[in-house]
Amino acid sequence: MMDKILVVDDEKDTRDFMARALREKYDVETAPDAEAAMRQLEADSTIRLLLSDVRMPGEDGITLMRAAKASNPNLAVVLLTAFGSIDQAVAAMKDGADDFITKPVDLDQLELRIEKALKAHRLEAEVEDLRAQLDEKYGLGNIIGNSPAMRRVFRMVKQVARSDATVLIEGPSGTGKELVARAIHNLSPRAKGPYVAVEVAAISQTLLETELFGHEKGAFTGAVARRAGRFEAANHGTIFLDEISEMPLDIQVKLLRVLQEREFQRLGSNETIHTDVRIVAATNRDLAAYVRAGKFREDLFYRLNVIDLRMPALKDRDGDIPLLVGRFLKEFGGKSVSPEAMKLLERYPWPGNVRELRNTVEKMCVLSPTGQIDVDDVPDEVKRGDGKPLSSTGTLEEMEKAKILAVLDEVGGNRTLAAERLGISRRTIYRKLEEYGI
Ligand SMILES: Nc1ncnc2c1ncn2[C@@H]1O[C@H](COP(=O)(O)OP(=O)(O)OP(=O)(O)O)[C@@H](O)[C@H]1O
Ligand SMILES: [Mg+2]
Repeated sequence: MMDKILVVDDEKDTRDFMARALREKYDVETAPDAEAAMRQLEADSTIRLLLSDVRMPGEDGITLMRAAKASNPNLAVVLLTAFGSIDQAVAAMKDGADDFITKPVDLDQLELRIEKALKAHRLEAEVEDLRAQLDEKYGLGNIIGNSPAMRRVFRMVKQVARSDATVLIEGPSGTGKELVARAIHNLSPRAKGPYVAVEVAAISQTLLETELFGHEKGAFTGAVARRAGRFEAANHGTIFLDEISEMPLDIQVKLLRVLQEREFQRLGSNETIHTDVRIVAATNRDLAAYVRAGKFREDLFYRLNVIDLRMPALKDRDGDIPLLVGRFLKEFGGKSVSPEAMKLLERYPWPGNVRELRNTVEKMCVLSPTGQIDVDDVPDEVKRGDGKPLSSTGTLEEMEKAKILAVLDEVGGNRTLAAERLGISRRTIYRKLEEYGI
């Protein structure tokens, strides 16, 4: 197929002369001025190259180029400048022209330059194409995966990103919920707006409200100045509410209002603030069970769950383990993994999902004495392949309980200190101890 070129010059003779010469190799259209050219470009997205005179009555060629590039960044542009007007030519190149030709036009030069400009853009388009194919093949941006389960996730992410709908991301720990929340924002029309992540479980119950909604000066002891909350910070962007199951019921009521009315009030203020935010929430708990237990409002659950994006466990992602291992190896210094060791990694059920896999690869990279990770470098529990840590035959919950109690013992029963050591919030440790009946 011949490439399509649009030739713009106010002098009919020049226009026709160039058009005639170029018709041998290209599909040529012509326009007498910038306005007509712009109309043609807008109507026909298959035009690959704009060849335009700079000096024309009405809008000049540089203005035309800017407008054309704005609507189609991939358009190649070659400008015609009067002999001797180097300044103009330099300015044109700076503005994004691929090349310029001085008048009077030498036909050999014209063909050569046009071919060169087209070639550069063809390459660009090919690279873009390849990149898109790679995305299809290995994942979405930095989210790796090629299993049917992950392809389904990618398709959904791309689709929901276009809308403003509230999304609830559910899935076990370490499956990439945070990455997906980020991707939804990055692929959305709000991408240029703020992305604000709030880890609900990490903020103490008393601070959570002002953290989310802000407060007025004097709203409570210690409120020395007015402060905007995260919802205000996220205006025109996306707010990510992580570990939403841990939100206290009274704050759930306020969140419900934001979802329904798109408005809220700062603590200690009567002023209603309207907000334009997209809400994405995530949980690694069974939120429906929380609803049944009366720990999560049913109406809020349905409001959040407009789009339910479920992240699959790593063991349900056929073929993704070698891809992920490849990515993490690169990240941690470029060692390789022997086929036998890879088999062990693929057989293990990864209860901690991608996070556990990533940590394991990092550990193996550090500990392996050679450039290749072999069976000997694979941790024992992975080698055994049953997903249970070596030190115990208990369940994950039992392990967790034992660990928490041990740390608590170490710090003399100080729960805040214990939580800090364990890297969990105080609320989480209180909840756990309650669960254990302590
Ligand atoms: N598909 C993936 N490709 C590449 N890296 C991934 C993928 N999924 C997860 N990861 C990595 O694994 C780790 C855990 O992911 P993430 O924090 O998103 O999990 P999560 O689902 O939010 O877990 P939790 O419920 O514990 O908060 C991160 O380091 C992340 O970069
Ligand atoms: Mg997370």
